[in-house]
Amino acid sequence: MRDNRYGALSSWVYNLDKPVGRSFGDLEYYRDRLAQCHGPILEPAVGNGRIFVPLLQEGFQIEGFDASEEMLNYCLDECRGRNLPVDLTLQSFEKFSYDKSFAAIIIPAGSFQLITDEIAAAAVLKRFYDHLAPGGRLIIDLDPVGSILAPPGPIRSWTTEDGDVLTLTDNRVETNYLAQTTLSHNRYELWHKGALIKTELELFKLRWWGIYEFRLALQVAGFMNVQVSGNYQHARTPQSEDEIITFEAQRPIA
Ligand SMILES: C[S@@+](CC[C@H](N)C(=O)[O-])C[C@H]1O[C@@H](n2cnc3c(N)ncnc32)[C@H](O)[C@@H]1O
Repeated sequence: MRDNRYGALSSWVYNLDKPVGRSFGDLEYYRDRLAQCHGPILEPAVGNGRIFVPLLQEGFQIEGFDASEEMLNYCLDECRGRNLPVDLTLQSFEKFSYDKSFAAIIIPAGSFQLITDEIAAAAVLKRFYDHLAPGGRLIIDLDPVGSILAPPGPIRSWTTEDGDVLTLTDNRVETNYLAQTTLSHNRYELWHKGALIKTELELFKLRWWGIYEFRLALQVAGFMNVQVSGNYQHARTPQSEDEIITFEAQRPIA
């Protein structure tokens, strides 16, 4: 089973829990940071379009890809329902390819941390670099180590449109302090009139990064002008209680 698969139940839960337009401060932040962007924008791991669809609606020239067909289908439905022209493909961080370059690449929601091997992560940063136009910017959110290591919460549940119940139980099965990874068994269950009708096990793996470490990784990939911001306050140095850290870096102009 592939890690971080975002299968049918996982995608359904994501779409119920974080529907299009739901912001954690990130939608407004990315909108502001992209305001002066001239040229196409790419959102890798676009998911259900939580951020992508509002940006597209506001006239940003944005396209996206995701490794999960189920997630992409939610995004496609949302776009079609709004008559939005859509450019979405089924691709992965590790292999994505375009025959054009982008003015910006954005990765909200800590999705970059789904790449848990540091060599693979370095190669993906280089791939982002190669797909940016000179002067283009990469903007990436990372969850701080504290939130990745926090103990899993209680079982969560959502009611579907048909009145069925979806539940998620998160069992942390491994924390590897050397590799800086956690592995959780996310167990999704779909209940109809009290009977369990479907289950799905997601092997959910995340990697945490130190701020200095990630800054260096960006520089090794060729990026310059790395800015680090806490809690979506641009250029405000992160503080230990911040819930999100955003990196912005530029491909040199020449
Ligand atoms: C936390 S969701 C983020 C969705 C959206 N960007 C947002 O901000 O709400 C993470 C997404 O990463 C995708 N994903 C996981 N592994 C991936 C990979 N190797 N390549 C591309 N996408 C991947 C998942 O399918 C999922 O849609």
